[in-house]
Amino acid sequence: MLKLGANLLNCTKFIRNNSGGSLSLLNYRYFSSTTTATDTLKNDNKKILITTPIFYVNGPPHIGHLYTGILADAFSRWNKFSGNDTLFMTGTDEHGSKVEEAAKKNGLNTVEYTNQISNRFRELFDFSNIKYDDYIRTTEPRHKVAVEAMWNRLLERGYIYKGKYQGWYCMSDESFLTNSQVTEGMSPVTPTNPVSKKCMVSLESGHVVEWLEEENYMFKLSAFKEDIEKWLDNNKVYPLVYENQIRHLLKDGLKDLSISRPTSRCSWGIPVPNDPSQTIYVWLDALTNYMTVTGYPHTDANDPNSYWSNVCHIIGKDIVKFHIIYWPAFLLAAGYPLPQKIICHAHWTVNREKMSKSRGNVVNPVESIEKYGLEGVRYFLLKGGGLEDDGDWSDNEINIKLTADLASTFGNLVSRSTGKALHPSGQWPSKVVDESLFTESDKEMIKEINKAIEKTSIQFNRGDFKQGIYEILDFLYAVNGYIQSQKPWTLVPKKDKVVGDLTRLNTIMYTALECVRIVSLLLTPVIPQATKSTLDHLSIPDSNRRLKDLKFGFDYINQCTNDQVPSTSIILFKRVDK
Ligand code: MSP
Repeated sequence: MLKLGANLLNCTKFIRNNSGGSLSLLNYRYFSSTTTATDTLKNDNKKILITTPIFYVNGPPHIGHLYTGILADAFSRWNKFSGNDTLFMTGTDEHGSKVEEAAKKNGLNTVEYTNQISNRFRELFDFSNIKYDDYIRTTEPRHKVAVEAMWNRLLERGYIYKGKYQGWYCMSDESFLTNSQVTEGMSPVTPTNPVSKKCMVSLESGHVVEWLEEENYMFKLSAFKEDIEKWLDNNKVYPLVYENQIRHLLKDGLKDLSISRPTSRCSWGIPVPNDPSQTIYVWLDALTNYMTVTGYPHTDANDPNSYWSNVCHIIGKDIVKFHIIYWPAFLLAAGYPLPQKIICHAHWTVNREKMSKSRGNVVNPVESIEKYGLEGVRYFLLKGGGLEDDGDWSDNEINIKLTADLASTFGNLVSRSTGKALHPSGQWPSKVVDESLFTESDKEMIKEINKAIEKTSIQFNRGDFKQGIYEILDFLYAVNGYIQSQKPWTLVPKKDKVVGDLTRLNTIMYTALECVRIVSLLLTPVIPQATKSTLDHLSIPDSNRRLKDLKFGFDYINQCTNDQVPSTSIILFKRVDK
């Protein structure tokens, strides 16, 4: 057998060994010396719960919120594609002073206001093809039951005591802060406060803080420093930079945490069981939502077959402290399993400036989708939004990227390789079974296919869609180069000239079509509609659109629902006009 044949066989065997669901061995092999957090994600047909943070309803969604949603959606789609039994949830975080105040400012009662904004998030996510399995609102009765159960559990296990809080509170972040976590700063200019004034601000976020002295319930957070460090030792956070931030915070030890507010100061929330004079702290309330969607407290969080046994949280960089310190501590105290993975992402700026109402540069996601198309926005967000580095939204960049990547590189490849002109028989090419027909260039191209599958899968398994898309782009350039160099159009028999080489044409077009099919499968989590159109155009059966199908060697004649080349050509993306 040719060397190429052996290579292919190895790769095929390897993927089959993972029973159509797993790329974990692939990861292990590639990263054997530097295995990282998401490489160990349980991708073996296991249950997995994938979560977005739940969004505050103190204002309408912006492009940054949409990014979190789309990133998690892509990760969920990838997991479903990989065969994992995936529960993907999103929703809204509706309690707390910040939301209560926003309702007041908008002249609405809080229930009406939260209904309105929560619906806007849901409508945006539906409009954006974010395929969530559950949309939770913290104002739902099922969630109240879960939060009360969590509270009682922490109380029974001796981790809650009554205390007095003296310190700072940041309403924007709903965060209690110590003296060392605040500094002097200036208040932001708003329509109601047109002059900036000296005030204390949070060092973490720069948001204004206020001094509080109040009775409330405390949680024994200080007991969990070592256990959180131990949990972090098992590569739970990706990328590493966020784990390091948390380790740095942990170095100084942990202070106990207030987990309630006097109802006289904050009444918009869930009352403390058996003490309605106190309202449960909004972050304990909000974080528990992740358990509510698994059916808690009616399901056993310690059941190894429950969704709670394998949780992956996707969060933005501003909320790492809550998810990587508070949440694991609550779970440890409750005696429940900790998340398997936390994927953190950086933020979006606009023309290199922080997005804010006062700057007037908040990007409206619905308008952007109307302007650039949904798949254009999904692609731009996933390619431009980094896990470590902030992404920057600029209309000029979108125009350039969408035209260059989607219209010229991917779209052209699809229309060129599936058009009738290069399939003169009107049938898809037949599978090349005689390997001696492959030239060195074909073999190179096939190697590139295997490399693209492997490298992209590693990145997608980690939730790093930006790096994954760069791998796919490299591959697309290689395929376009292959077609350009092989000049299949010179082999098509012409009416006036009998010459042509149908065997060679078949080999080239079969290889090219395999590239199109595989790249479409890989891009499915990113641009689900365009890739579906492409796979439909090729008549690939639904049952052949899974991880197991990411290998060279599809038989178009025998496996497609229709082996005829459609008479109408496919145009996936139009060039974006400025
Ligand atoms: N309600 C809390 C989360 C509770 S989870 C138990 C919250 N809500 S939020 O609406 O303020 O933020 C939700 C998500 O949107 C966070 O992951 C946050 O990082 C993300 N983003 C907010 N602004 C963003 C950008 N400018 N860019 C990217 N993501 C942004 O925090």
